[in-house]
Amino acid sequence: MDEQQFIPKKYSNIPDTGKYTWSSPSNIALVKYWGKKKDQIPENPSISFTLESCKTITSLSFSKIKSNSSFSFDIFLDDEKKDDFKPKIETFFKRIESYLPFLKDYHFVIKTSNTFPHSSGIASSASGMSALAMCLMSIEKQIIPTLTHEYFNQKASFLARLGSGSACRSVEGDLIVWGHHANIEGSSNLFGIKYPYEVHENFKNYQDTILLVDKGEKQVSSTVGHNLMHNHPFAAERFIQAHNNLNNLIQILKNGDINAFNQIVESEALSLHAMMMTSLPYFILMKPNTLEIINKIWEFRNKSGLPVSFTLDAGANVHVLYPEKDALSILEFIKNELVAYCQNGHYICDKIGFGSKQL
Ligand code: PMV
Repeated sequence: MDEQQFIPKKYSNIPDTGKYTWSSPSNIALVKYWGKKKDQIPENPSISFTLESCKTITSLSFSKIKSNSSFSFDIFLDDEKKDDFKPKIETFFKRIESYLPFLKDYHFVIKTSNTFPHSSGIASSASGMSALAMCLMSIEKQIIPTLTHEYFNQKASFLARLGSGSACRSVEGDLIVWGHHANIEGSSNLFGIKYPYEVHENFKNYQDTILLVDKGEKQVSSTVGHNLMHNHPFAAERFIQAHNNLNNLIQILKNGDINAFNQIVESEALSLHAMMMTSLPYFILMKPNTLEIINKIWEFRNKSGLPVSFTLDAGANVHVLYPEKDALSILEFIKNELVAYCQNGHYICDKIGFGSKQL
């Protein structure tokens, strides 16, 4: 399987105008992607829970223009024109142009909004790039109505990856693998796939409460962070660790061992941050309250025996993960003991979800 399969045959004709709207969720990695090769190929496989409530909703209107030498589009966030978003979309369009040859035949109006606050420290690139890729695929589907559902999703994930790596895990739900792993059939560096093996009841409807510790802009963009894995002294070991952790998760997801699950997920979060702390330049994205929360979670878990754990993205916010059956007691603990460490007491209750939807 290679990129060639996503280059369409010459289109016979294309519609004059139209509009598509999609919502795409954010996702939270259990085994983290950190480090990439050329063309957004990940250095190691990752696996994530697709979320339900944290979403981007994007509508893409298109009208035919005389074919241009450059891309023609305007982008709005919450109805406000956002010219500062243009370079990112321009780069995305350049990367995907050979896979969607109609891009220069249209003027596009992209209108986007997030269900989570813009300045929440929750990255909108995964959900945003995924929603845009879904809209673009809807245009291709209109041009080539015979595209199968499977091809549609696979190519959408492939395109989203070229916008932002982790975006390829936001097309579908509920557990997505991206990156080749020897023991996961069908896994690919080019797109995300639905996790193909048995998942125990314990992980169904898994809960993720996102504690907004720091809502500021990230100090380090993920592009810079990924690049710091080149020549990183521990990179090779880290990539092996991710392969092993994903391998061990296969058994854990099947047998429902939440304690073993928690160990891998927390170790992955801390390894991600350890990579950042040991790169050159080095940086610390956790804040004092991130550590306070982690310690509280460990204390509560030891005392109560309830299987709550945490994971982190490339930022200070904490994702608190727990099974649905313990949601009442753990949410009570979160409200009583953790929310105090959130900026303005803000947190978001989310859970595992089922992927993008056309609206
Ligand atoms: O998709 P990017 O390039 O923004 O990378 C995101 C990487 C992490 O969120 C830190 C980990 C992951 O696997 O999602």
